[in-house]
Order: sequence, then structure tokens, then C-alpha cells
Amino acid sequence: LRIAVLFGGRSAEHEVSILSATNVMGALAPEKYDAVPIFISREGQWLLSSIVDGALATPSSGTEICLVPGGRGRMMAIPAGGTPYDLPGIDILFPVLHGPYGEDGSVQGLAEVARVPLAGCGILGSAAALDKDIAKRLLRAAGLPVARAVTIRADAAPSLATLESELGLPLFIKPARQGSSVGVAKVHASQEFAPALAEAFRHDHTLLAEEFVAGREIEFSVLENAAGELFVSRPGEIVPAESHGFYNYDAKYIDENGAALKVPAELPPDVEATMRDMAAKAFRAVGCDGMARVDFFLTSDMRFLINEINTIPGFTDISMYSKAMAASGVSYAEVIDRLVDHGMA
Ligand code: DAL
Ligand code: MG
Repeated sequence: LRIAVLFGGRSAEHEVSILSATNVMGALAPEKYDAVPIFISREGQWLLSSIVDGALATPSSGTEICLVPGGRGRMMAIPAGGTPYDLPGIDILFPVLHGPYGEDGSVQGLAEVARVPLAGCGILGSAAALDKDIAKRLLRAAGLPVARAVTIRADAAPSLATLESELGLPLFIKPARQGSSVGVAKVHASQEFAPALAEAFRHDHTLLAEEFVAGREIEFSVLENAAGELFVSRPGEIVPAESHGFYNYDAKYIDENGAALKVPAELPPDVEATMRDMAAKAFRAVGCDGMARVDFFLTSDMRFLINEINTIPGFTDISMYSKAMAASGVSYAEVIDRLVDHGMA
């Protein structure tokens, strides 16, 4: 099976995607898959990549790749200054892209237009899950618990006093559509408010102000099989180091001791069972299919809230999705086989 792995991309999580894709490529059994890595530059150019000395090449120029509309996997190669030629067609597209322009339904739409099977979540679920504002509305409408939040747009930004009366302090300011905590700030006092808005607005025109929930971060991996049945993993727990204040980008990817992962998380069995059930309901409520990681906060009195849903969760060395699956008896290679089976079904 020829599988095109898209990575890099135009979002702020470009580097995270390279780390994720390195692991996905490593987990594609060579006797089953003929993997074609395609690097998407920060500008959005698709370039043919390869593995060089065990690492994925991230070329700045070279052979451009074009997926032919309606082509059922037909790909053209366009060498710099050379004559375009046909590449062997692909059987499935596997976007390992995080954030906007990859995890948000855009590349998923491209797969539809190209008439090529797609690994992972489709257009609607991707778009809905990546937008924290929309996802929250859908979760709330399904009766699922979420943190209180206020939607902020540039033309109607409320004062911090208004937000404080609804949400208390500290509160979080988040761009609606970002991942890996990029552009997210914790606001404790008025002098932090304007810079937090300015930074978040660099990433999106819609923001969320969200109440701070003191609690443990518990995550579940959800995987759908070709028959449409959901498998929900055991819980994993993120234990961020005190020094980072919250599980931010640095704690995730820069500081080696920024956080510890505990898999499976220690939870009372009835709480775990309820949360697993709720992870599946959240997956459906947001319109997901294929794969997602559902992230919760769990308070000390065992109340829980759904924080967010990631349809292309990180596959980096420190990421939870594959670790929680492994703790549930599903190996990395098996996750990929199931995603491919689901996509081809
Ligand atoms: N957005 C990052 C990659 C994650 O959720 O794991
Ligand atoms: Mg995320």
C-alpha cells in the first residue's frame, strides 16, 4: 500500500509535526507500506522528502508535489526547472499535520477533492474540533461538561472586569484555532490582559477567555475501526512541572523535564469508566471519525470537564496518544493499520 505522509505545514506547530511524522514513518511497517513523505514548507509548498540518516528531510526547494483533483491518488512531480512527470499513485493520504491548514479540515477536503482515501478524521469533525469555540458549543449542546468561557472577537473585546465577574481570576486567553498551547496565556492581573489578547490575536481572529480549572490533566485516545466502532484507551495523565505554571509549549517540547506522563493514570475504576464513556460521546458530539485524543480536567473532588479534542494528536516522543494506546494493548503499528483500514473502508 502506498501511503503519502504529509508533514511540516503552515501552522505554528510546524516543528511539532516534523517530530510526529518522524515517529509515524518509523512505525509504518516496510513490508506493508510504501511510505512517501511529503514535506509542506511554512509557506505551504509541497516538496518530496525522504529519510536521510534516519531523519526526515525538510528541503527548502526541490521537487514539488501535486495531488491531481479527481485523480484517485494520482500525483505529479514538478522538478525545479524540469519537466513534470507522474509519480506512482498513492492509495491513501495520511496527514500528520497539527493546527490550521492540516488538522482543520482543509487537507481533509483536499483528499475528498482528489478522491483519495484519508487516514483519520474527515472535514467536519476536523474543522469543528480544531475550533475551540465551536467544539465547546457542540459539547455543551450534547450535555457534556466543559469549562466556562466567553468568546472574544476583536471588534467586541470585553473588559477584564467583565470577564472576571463571569469567569474569576486567573483565566486563560486562547486563540480559537491553535494547538500545543501556542498563543495561550494565563492572566492573573490587569497588566497581563492586553498583552495576552494581542498575542492570541496574532494567531486567530476569535479567542476564548476560559475559567481556570484547578485539576489533573487526563487524556484518552479514541480510535474508530472500519466498522465504525470506537475503541477508547486507558487514561493517561500529564503532570506538568510546577515551574511552567501550566502545560505550555515549552513544558511540552522544549524543557525535557517540563512534564511527566503517567500511563495509565491512577483513577477510581468507576471514574475511569465514566470518563471513557464520555470521551466516546465527545468524539461523536463534535462529529469526529477515525481518530482523536480527548483531553479532560479532573478536579480533586472528582468532577471532570472536557478541555479539548485533537483530531491529529501529537505523535512525538513525549506525546500521549500512542502511549495510552500501548497501555491498552494496541501497539503503534496496530494504530496505523487500523487508521489505514478505517480510511480505506
Ligand atoms: N496539538 C498537539 C500536537 C497535541 O494535541 O498533541
Ligand atoms: Mg491541542
